[in-house]
This record gives sequence, C-alpha cells and structure tokens, in this order.
Amino acid sequence: MHIFIVIRKYLYNSYSKMISGSLHVILPLLLIAIVALGFCLDEKFQGNENDNSSMEIYTKNYNVSRLNDSDENRKIKKGFEVFRYTSKFIGPKKKGGKFSGNNLSCANCHLWSGTKPYAAPLIGIIQRFPQFRGRENKIGTIVERVNGCMERSMNGIALPTESEEMLALIAYMNWLSRFAPADGKIKGQGFVQINIPSRAVNLTNGKKVFNANCIVCHEKNGQGKWLADSIAYEFPPLWGSDSYNNGAGMTRVITAAQFIKANMPYGATYENPILTDDEAYDVAGYINQQERPEKKNKEVDFPDIKKKPVSTPYPPYADTFSVKQHQLGPFSPIKEYYKKKYNIVKSK
Ligand code: HEC
Ligand code: HEC
Repeated sequence: MHIFIVIRKYLYNSYSKMISGSLHVILPLLLIAIVALGFCLDEKFQGNENDNSSMEIYTKNYNVSRLNDSDENRKIKKGFEVFRYTSKFIGPKKKGGKFSGNNLSCANCHLWSGTKPYAAPLIGIIQRFPQFRGRENKIGTIVERVNGCMERSMNGIALPTESEEMLALIAYMNWLSRFAPADGKIKGQGFVQINIPSRAVNLTNGKKVFNANCIVCHEKNGQGKWLADSIAYEFPPLWGSDSYNNGAGMTRVITAAQFIKANMPYGATYENPILTDDEAYDVAGYINQQERPEKKNKEVDFPDIKKKPVSTPYPPYADTFSVKQHQLGPFSPIKEYYKKKYNIVKSK
C-alpha cells in the first residue's frame, strides 16, 4: 500500500470518528439550542404582545371633533358630551328629568373619555356584551351595565333604554369599539393587577398618603373643585353626598386600589405609577371609610351571594368574616375560604 494512501485513510477514519463522536455531543446541544431559541422567540413575541404592540388599539383616532356632521356622527358626539358632562344632560345640573343623583361624569372614572388603559376603558365594550354578571347572577346587556353605573357610581336611577341620552352613550361606545377584536378583549381592560398586601388597610398611613398626594386637587375635605363655569367638576369629590354610593365598584378597596395605582395622582399611568401598591391600598381604604350615599335595596344585590366580591363593603355574605374585614382586609383569608369551601377564585 502506498504510504500516502495509508496516511489519508488513517486521517479520514479519525476525522469521521471525530465527527460522529462529537455528533453525540453536538446534536443534542444543537437541539437544545434550537429549542431554547424557540422559547426566546416565543417569549419575545409574548413580550411584544404584552407591551406596546397590543397597546396599539389605544393609538387609534378617538377624537370626536374630527367627525363630520352625519346623523350617526351627531349621535356619537352627543354621547361623548353626555359621557364628559353627565350632570348637565341627565343629572342635577339639568332642570327636570334627572337620572344621575350626583354631579360626577362618566369620564371622571373612565379616564380620557373611556380610552385610557387600566381606567376601565370602554374600547371593545360593545363586543364584550352580553356578559355574565355575578352581581345580578345573569347575562346582562350593555344597557343594564350602563345602568349599573347609573345606580351606583352616579348614585341615581336607571336611564331608560330608548332615551336619547342612552342611545347616544351607546353610539359613542360603539364608535370607541370599532377597532376592537370580535370578543372585545383588549390589553389594559379593567384595572391593573396589584399585589394586595396580606395585611389589613392601615388607615393612619392612608390618611398620610392622602394628605401628601391627593389634596392638591381633591381638597383637604375630599370634596374636589368645580370647573370655572361650574358645568362639571375639575376635580371630582371622593366622598360625601355628591360622590358615588356604597354599592359602586369604586367602594371596594381592591378595585379602588387598582384604579388609583395606575391613574392617581392624576398623571400616573400603568407604565409610570406614582404610588406603591401598599400606598394605593391604604389610601383606597381611607377614602372608602368616609361618609357617602347609601345604595338602596343593596340587600337584593347578588342573588347568589357566594359570587359577591370579597371587598364588597356591605353584608350579607356567604361567610362569617366581619363587615370590617370585608372593608379593610386582610383579604387573603377570605379568598382562601371561598377557594376551599366553594372552589371559587375571587380577585376583587
Ligand atoms: C365613580 C366611578 C365611576 C363612574 C362615575 C362611572 N363608572 Fe362605569 N365603572 C366604574 C367601575 C369601577 C367599573 C368596573 C366595575 C367592576 O369591576 O365591577 C365600571 C364599569 C363600567 C362598564 C363595564 C366596563 C367593562 O369593561 O366591562 C361600563 C359600560 C360603564 N362602567 C359605563 C359607565 C357610564 C356610561 C358611566 C356614566 C353614566 C359610568 N360608567 C360612570 C366606575 C365608574
Ligand atoms: C393633579 C390633580 C389630582 C391629584 C393630585 C389626584 N387626583 Fe384623583 N382625580 C383627578 C381628576 C382630574 C379626576 C377626574 C378625571 C377626569 O375627569 O378626567 C380624578 C378622579 C379620581 C377618582 C375617581 C372619581 C371620583 O371622584 O371618585 C378617584 C377615586 C381619585 N381621583 C382618587 C385620587 C386619590 C386617592 C389621589 C391621591 C393618591 C388623587 N386622586 C390625586 C385629579 C387628581
């Protein structure tokens, strides 16, 4: 045999041995790398979905002043006005025909006229209804949902389905919903999730947070301030006779804390909150311990009382925790009770 052939054969053999030998190592490594890359990409896509790209719906045009004066557009614009200056149209500021009992506006809680993420935005609301509601234990319509806020947040009575103002409000919400997906689910729906402390609300700290962060606008007595023309509040009251009643979502400490975290002091957003979760929790407890109107017939709320949110401030309850604990926490023992006894997971 030619010496060169022998050497080449030897080299070739050891080379392929090397390859196949290391393939045992390389192949699995390669597989792991591919899988890991897949996860990274996946995470990246999910990350995107959770960040700005799915927030895109908020960047669409919701400026009613750009609409022309067609009949439908006039209805939308009227709905926008009712949403922003509610009292003037259906409340105490209107002579006769009063439906809302206080001078709040829908936009005082549904910020940026219903287009701010984590301020219970109404983009997609039309697609989200009809919807199951624990409060009534039945499927509810959008009209009934608006009237839920009328009877609680607005401390008033139901606005008739066929009234001009109800139709206008629905036209406005319908227009806000025009880019929403078929199920109406959008990122930033409802309120931001926060870590509810496992302790009870600290009212002393709540008052401190209030004095340091809220009174510049809502005033020391919590009664807020009117706009110069007194057509609506510039800074709405947080308690007292002109505030939401104790049947409102905002009287639940957990809901109020979530609203406050991403929205108050005014200027806060979910991306740039100002208060810590603990501060939002304490100040929410503080404002909700002050006097406010009583919801009528609240005993008949929640036909199935097991479905009542844990921080609903009034009885009856399907448990034996005190009213005070339902108002001020700690909430984890109550949540655990419902999980164990009824297998119901409660978030608010
Ligand atoms: C005091 C604050 C406040 C005011 C004022 C208020 N709302 Fe609400 N609204 C809430 C809260 C809080 C929720 C969420 C309640 C919950 O989690 O059960 C809500 C929920 C809603 C929903 C359902 C939202 C969803 O995503 O499912 C609609 C629709 C609605 N409000 C319409 C209105 C309209 C219309 C007005 C004015 C007539 C109004 N609200 C006034 C606080 C308010
Ligand atoms: C810079 C002014 C400003 C500060 C400071 C501020 N708010 Fe507000 N707040 C507003 C305005 C304005 C609204 C109504 C939003 C709208 O109509 O666009 C509002 C609405 C609210 C609402 C819902 C409407 C109502 O009347 O119940 C609550 C609750 C609230 N603020 C709580 C707080 C708390 C708690 C603090 C302190 C941690 C605070 N705010 C600090 C300006 C402020």
